Amino acid sequence: MADELRYDGRVAIVTGAGNGLGRAHALLLGARGARVVVNDLGGDVHGGGQSSAAADQVVAEIQAMGGTAVASYDSVEAGDKIVQAALDHFGSVDIVINNAGILRDSSFAKMTEHDWDLIYRVHVLGAFRVTHAAWPHMRSKGYGRVVMTTSAAGIYGNFGQANYSMAKMGMIGLASTLAIEGGAKNVLVNTIAPIAGSRLSGTVMPPQMAEALRPDYVTPLAAYLCHESCQENGGLFEVGAGFHAKLRWERTAGHHFGSQPFGPEEVAEKWLEIGDFSQVSHPKSIAESVMPILQSADSPFGHGKV
Ligand SMILES: NC(=O)c1ccc[n+]([C@@H]2O[C@H](COP(=O)([O-])OP(=O)(O)OC[C@H]3O[C@@H](n4cnc5c(N)ncnc54)[C@H](O)[C@@H]3O)[C@@H](O)[C@H]2O)c1
Repeated sequence: MADELRYDGRVAIVTGAGNGLGRAHALLLGARGARVVVNDLGGDVHGGGQSSAAADQVVAEIQAMGGTAVASYDSVEAGDKIVQAALDHFGSVDIVINNAGILRDSSFAKMTEHDWDLIYRVHVLGAFRVTHAAWPHMRSKGYGRVVMTTSAAGIYGNFGQANYSMAKMGMIGLASTLAIEGGAKNVLVNTIAPIAGSRLSGTVMPPQMAEALRPDYVTPLAAYLCHESCQENGGLFEVGAGFHAKLRWERTAGHHFGSQPFGPEEVAEKWLEIGDFSQVSHPKSIAESVMPILQSADSPFGHGKV
């Protein structure tokens, strides 16, 4: 059995920690020595209402295990208040798990601007505001671990979730750049795409499946990504039901028209080659993406042409 990973001395903010995945994350961190800000607005799945009960319940559960936790009832849209709660009660912030979430599903044809905006505000603006408020504290102490929670709907798309897909993909983009900007200061940022039974997924999952996919199956990965021994940065992971895997971009070898004139007809002619995945690369940065294109013998900039 491996040594237990502990979080003694660390201060963790878990947003949306009153239910489901966030609750499981908060309980594990609290059980292993972290002082936890249990943030939850206590609204319904669609972003309506507000209550302190959900956060209070999880704080009580952590305290009953002998842990230390405080409730925060603010929406993630007031991220600075959530971070201020961590500073006021525990004097610091080391870990941020951006987990709060709602759904406003509807086909794109029927989607209102309100559905679009609310999803953007809770997932993207909320993650931005909480992380942005925590960022200077983590950078100045040279330690931070941030986890974003995306979704398969963001990665692959899903009928009826145009707003949610946009927001969840937005969080991946946010994490990619934060990983670049935070890495040198030991502020590491990763993203999980979970699958778990919860009141949220209960709206799209059969009950038997929801029962089998316990949030506890997702929390060990989220917790590992928050541990000081974990050096992963900028990663994207699918996790659920005990399954753990990493995702990356894959690019075909493609076709370079070079400096020859070409139009849509030539693109159509080379369509199979452009989409042929028999030879691939996995660019991990803008440099790795762009340099091979510019340096190619076929490029107008290639082989010392500039
Ligand atoms: N359960 C899944 O299969 C699944 C799949 C992909 C992604 N996710 C993501 O995981 C995260 C957690 O989802 P869950 O399934 O545990 O749902 P859940 O409904 O059980 O928990 C989400 C919590 O977030 C809280 N919340 C909502 N809006 C908030 C706000 N503005 N400020 C603070 N708290 C707020 C809710 O009150 C709730 O307690 C979400 O971001 C969700 O999009 C879940």
